[in-house]
Amino acid sequence: MKLPALLLAVLLFSQCLAFEFIIDGEWEEGSDHDDHFRESSRYRRNILTSEEEEDFEAVRGDDITVKSYKVESRITSRFAYTTVSSSVVNSGLNAQSIGFNVQIPKRAFINNFTMNVNGITFVGSVKEKTVARKLYSQAKSRGKAAGIVRTNSQAMETFKTEVHVPAGSKIEFELHYQEMMQRKLGSYTHTLHIQPGRLVPHLQVDVYIFEPKGIQFVEAPNTLGEHFKGMTKITHTKQKAHVVFKPSLQQQRKCSNCTETAVDGVFTVQYDVERESNEGELVVSDGHFIHFFAPSNLSPLSKNIVFVIDVSGSMWGLKMKQTVEAMKTILDDLTVDDNFSIIDFNHNVRCWSEELVPGNALQVANAKKYIQDIKPNGGTNINEALLKAVQMLLKAQNQGIIDQRSVSMIILVSDGDPTVGEIKLSTIQKNIKRVMHQDFSLYSLGIGFDVDFDFLERIALENRGMAQRIFANHDASEQLKMFYSQVSSPMLRKITIHLPVDSVTDVTQNQFDKFFKGSELVTAGKLKLSGSTTLNSFITAAAATLDINLQTDADPQELDTVLSQQQHSFAGFARQMWAYITINQLLAERSVAPTAAKKRKITHRLLTLSVEHQFVTPVTALLVESEDGPERLLADSPRDPRHGCCPAAGVITPQKVTLVESIPPSRPPWVEFLSPTPSPVKGVSPITLVENDPHFIVHLPKSNMDICFNIDSKPGHILNLVSDPGTGIAINGQLVSGKKMKNNKLNTYFGTISISAKEIGLNVVVSTKKIDLMEGKNNHSFSWGATAKITLTRAMVSIEKESKMTVTLDGKISVMVLLHRVWKKHLINVDFLGIYMPSTNLYSPQVHGLIGQFSNEPSVKVYDVHEGTEPDKKQATMEVKGNKLMVTRGKQKDYRLDKKQGSDVNCWFVHNSGKGFIDGHYTSYIVPNLDSFLPTV
Ligand SMILES: *[C@@H]1O[C@H](CO)[C@@H](O)[C@H](O)[C@H]1NC(C)=O
Ligand SMILES: *[C@@H]1O[C@H](CO)[C@@H](O)[C@H](O)[C@H]1NC(C)=O
Ligand SMILES: *[C@@H]1O[C@H](CO)[C@@H](O)[C@H](O)[C@H]1NC(C)=O
Ligand SMILES: *[C@@H]1O[C@H](CO)[C@@H](O)[C@H](O)[C@H]1NC(C)=O
Repeated sequence: MKLPALLLAVLLFSQCLAFEFIIDGEWEEGSDHDDHFRESSRYRRNILTSEEEEDFEAVRGDDITVKSYKVESRITSRFAYTTVSSSVVNSGLNAQSIGFNVQIPKRAFINNFTMNVNGITFVGSVKEKTVARKLYSQAKSRGKAAGIVRTNSQAMETFKTEVHVPAGSKIEFELHYQEMMQRKLGSYTHTLHIQPGRLVPHLQVDVYIFEPKGIQFVEAPNTLGEHFKGMTKITHTKQKAHVVFKPSLQQQRKCSNCTETAVDGVFTVQYDVERESNEGELVVSDGHFIHFFAPSNLSPLSKNIVFVIDVSGSMWGLKMKQTVEAMKTILDDLTVDDNFSIIDFNHNVRCWSEELVPGNALQVANAKKYIQDIKPNGGTNINEALLKAVQMLLKAQNQGIIDQRSVSMIILVSDGDPTVGEIKLSTIQKNIKRVMHQDFSLYSLGIGFDVDFDFLERIALENRGMAQRIFANHDASEQLKMFYSQVSSPMLRKITIHLPVDSVTDVTQNQFDKFFKGSELVTAGKLKLSGSTTLNSFITAAAATLDINLQTDADPQELDTVLSQQQHSFAGFARQMWAYITINQLLAERSVAPTAAKKRKITHRLLTLSVEHQFVTPVTALLVESEDGPERLLADSPRDPRHGCCPAAGVITPQKVTLVESIPPSRPPWVEFLSPTPSPVKGVSPITLVENDPHFIVHLPKSNMDICFNIDSKPGHILNLVSDPGTGIAINGQLVSGKKMKNNKLNTYFGTISISAKEIGLNVVVSTKKIDLMEGKNNHSFSWGATAKITLTRAMVSIEKESKMTVTLDGKISVMVLLHRVWKKHLINVDFLGIYMPSTNLYSPQVHGLIGQFSNEPSVKVYDVHEGTEPDKKQATMEVKGNKLMVTRGKQKDYRLDKKQGSDVNCWFVHNSGKGFIDGHYTSYIVPNLDSFLPTV
């Protein structure tokens, strides 16, 4: 049953005005309704798809003057509040019907509709559907039930109203709707249908964007056509953007002498927000929090895919042609690390390959040929085809060929309801759920309108996937590919966004099965107390070869202060956004509710929320009443959300559709997280370190002594600190120079440190900008901007925001890198790194390097301590490695406890770049690459 999205019924009884509302069709529940709608949609599909778009007119009437048509969207932190308004005069000689139509995104909820007719104002309020209908029916005698409705366009539906007014009447219409922007393939797209249908003296579109973390880019691709090239103006600061489209009357004309408007199409704004680090964005406003999570710079997980393709008779022609075309591109996208197979079915079920095979060039070529040769015919046995697909994955899993960290999915493409085998939808649903393994997900794509999309969506949602309708037209293949590209790069699995149970409540879904590249996961909730304490969040997830923990926090007052100074932001966004997410989640949950009682309970909550937040949802209606009269108007929507869209599941894949009320962990995970497992570098125990322009401090535990030396090498040089062929570990540092000479000398600092563990297959490259983890062929990148803990099989990396990071290898060797940031505009100094290594590190006896060599502690004797040339710099003689050296007592800094001032370490300073203390000359420690070992002698 594909119901009209909105239904507008109107009732008016006025002495001075004659209003009448057109009936487009009101769908009541009834047994023949499905067929009826299917008929009409089939008709539309075949005949009207394109014309209808062209025919659309925002304001309709024969002899009218549209004085203004304005659209304004205020997007604040991905939440858009749009107002569409128009001022119209009946300039004809007779009474007539004037229509006001708005195409709104299917994901949006209408909030309000107001009308002013000759000075009489009608104001909207959202009420429970039955209440609104009752009020409406009380006056039914004189009114005319009216409706709207069409869901033919891919992502839009139409709000339609019509009012019958006497000659000379002035009407002002205003419609409000709200929606959450969803990130897809790396950006948010805001679309507005601008189809005034005639020339308008004041035509204006304004889109205001406010993003607290900053806007990375904002574009307004000219989707309105060549005619308007260069007419959209964008102003853009770090956090704000304003997009204006305001064609003059002359610019609107199709040609200089025409009376027809060229403004007829979609206005598009695309943008993305800044994401410096992977931990996401925690936003707190108005007693609510919203957590956005969209990490980048992670390697995708490999996948196992079974494509299940309907090749029944109805697929014949365009649909099959488009499917084949899409499949060719999709198959090309597979890599040798992915495994796949294809099942095609009509009344029979066939497998291209009985087993999963790797996505190499040969197999892909074979699969393409197989698909190309299919001739659709016969019936539809969805049940058996899906069971076969699950079986194939299960078999692979039992054989142990499914990589634990990979993603396994079934992608179903079908254009019709089952006709062969099991045809009862609820039984098929049960069958699949029963056999489906919790590690597999099902994605379903419904082509055209002959397929019960609602069913496809239910089976997808119930099995950790999502569904999409594909419109059976010339770009069906593009739609299929686009859907596939959204799910083809899973980056993370088993994601949980944790928030402290004692500070939040009414948390929306916070566990997600997968995160796909270019999308975004969102969790929202209410704050328990509007205190001023910082809100912390904590995310856990599994990436290709590692587990990550990310931490972030937000100041609960900061954003509200900023918002209160922003003219065009939507200050109430957080509250509405929380409700928007919750309502969508409840709708999804309701569609799979197992019992009637459960369903009633969900409906009740839906109702309360919809009324409280004034959203027209499937359980509410908008009652539009005259402020000083009995006139009423009702904007209604269908009883069920059958429009096949489900924002909660649009991009993200819910692991479970149930609403997570609060966080279950018995012990808040951040407690453990904030005090990381004690590592040898903790505390103030003496340690070997390199700091500043590099100053080395070597701690010798047996002699309980610290020896220092400096190395003045050249920028770009890579110095080897540890080279241990025994454990396969090499630690190197690359020098950068200061910005300018200081005391006639260009200082050098460590700008990059590389810790490479050959045996583990891990290479960690830390620079002052980011931290790269390379494991095998996987590349993961983290920023200094977030506290994170990354767990690999044999290693652990923990990053403390803007401060330090520690790598622990096999629990035996630990290295800490300290980040020193200098003032950006400092004339001389640059950001640099310090490195700290405990003497307890367990290297092999072969270890060498500027620091590694001291793991095998030389005996050191210092004697003949006497006053030096400078007062507090005592001098002495040191005997080490058979050398007698003149050393000076000095102080160096250890910055572990105090990164600004440092703490003093008293040490014996060896001159001439450590000559005599280190083996050989320092230049023999210069290596060619960041992961080089010292040549073995
Ligand atoms: C609808 O708009 C009118 C006029 O701006 C306003 O008075 C009324 O409060 C609004 N209703 C809602 C639910 O926002
Ligand atoms: C525009 O229309 C006017 C009157 O109909 C006519 O005189 C004029 O030549 C037209 N101009 C062009 C450019 O077609
Ligand atoms: C694909 O199959 C091979 C064995 O044929 C297996 O080693 C590999 O792990 C599988 N890939 C995934 C993503 O599971
Ligand atoms: C991984 O990242 C490093 C450093 O950014 C780069 O040099 C290397 O080519 C990358 N490797 C792959 C396989 O992408």
